[in-house]
Amino acid sequence: MASRRDFLKTTAGVGAAVGLGSAVPKPLIGAPAVHRRVVTPVSVASGNGLEAVDTAVRAVNAGGDTLEAVVEGVNVVERDPNDSSVGFGGLPNLDGVVQLDSSVMHGPSRGAGAVACIEGIKTPSRVAMDVMRYTDHVLLVGKGAQRFALSMGYPLENLLTERSRRRWIEWRARMSDRDDYLVPPETGSGNDEPFEDEDSYGTNLIDSHDGVRPQGTINCNVINREGDISGVTTTSGLAWKVPGRVGDSPIVGAGLYVDNDVGACGSTGRGEAVIKTCGSHSVVELMRSGMSPTDACLEALRRIVTFTVEPRLRNDDGRPNFGVNYYAINKNGEYGGAAIYAGARFAVCVDGETRREESAYLFERDR
Ligand code: GLY
Repeated sequence: MASRRDFLKTTAGVGAAVGLGSAVPKPLIGAPAVHRRVVTPVSVASGNGLEAVDTAVRAVNAGGDTLEAVVEGVNVVERDPNDSSVGFGGLPNLDGVVQLDSSVMHGPSRGAGAVACIEGIKTPSRVAMDVMRYTDHVLLVGKGAQRFALSMGYPLENLLTERSRRRWIEWRARMSDRDDYLVPPETGSGNDEPFEDEDSYGTNLIDSHDGVRPQGTINCNVINREGDISGVTTTSGLAWKVPGRVGDSPIVGAGLYVDNDVGACGSTGRGEAVIKTCGSHSVVELMRSGMSPTDACLEALRRIVTFTVEPRLRNDDGRPNFGVNYYAINKNGEYGGAAIYAGARFAVCVDGETRREESAYLFERDR
């Protein structure tokens, strides 16, 4: 394989051979690794992103910027009080406070922005985009992120809906039968049944010492006709998390990665596993080496399985007792999604159709 130095040497020679000679001092450094081609716009997202992919493709078809398009898409879910996985109505931390994480990447400008542990702002993805556009930084956290959002004109709002507050009260009561919190009589026996609205669409249920814990996120990526790519991931993170906990969603390379020459990937599920394996970056690098989006997602999931050595994170088969999903798109507009366990689905908008498709997977669920 030719080294970069060989490549530059060879291509410089080509310039001379066609008569450009020294009149063209540095025409080839910075030339695109992949030349532009017209592709059909495609958007891929976690299963809770049906409306997001539709919005994103409409926006790019109307000539909108790819990052504006995906952020507009996920804003629909962030503002929805009935979606408990992100933004307004997201499930709170241990103290009953909603803390949100988000990151964005803009392929054409190689830009990135993120916020973590931000409170009181409904659309953290939009704040992440503003971090990218209006600061020299990539990641703002906590109070600093909130102050920045307020300075940009975002209103401070209570993100805890009555529904998510009730769920937190129930969880707190079930944590221990030796404290003074009683299970609210209207909620029945106090067993650990999953809440009625949990499904595989962007929500993962994690087995843990205090029963199943919901963990929801939305990731959305788009490619436009010119082959420009952007992505966003946004979440309220792991329900009942330790205050200050940051998941993979705002970590560039973990919950999201975009390389405009190659493709994009984002994740949902147990953030700690994705961070430790640099998940989304790994998927993009695997696509760079020639793998299809689906195969790249599966290979990155195998790395998570290999990294999961702690007995508390493994089931009786020695497999992870949690879920992780990847969603990817490449420069040719090919897309895919994969999960550790069967049954997950992802959202896609392509060729004028918006639908959910089955994710590829490593393991059947019922073993
Ligand atoms: N993947 C979302 C989180 O772990 O916070």
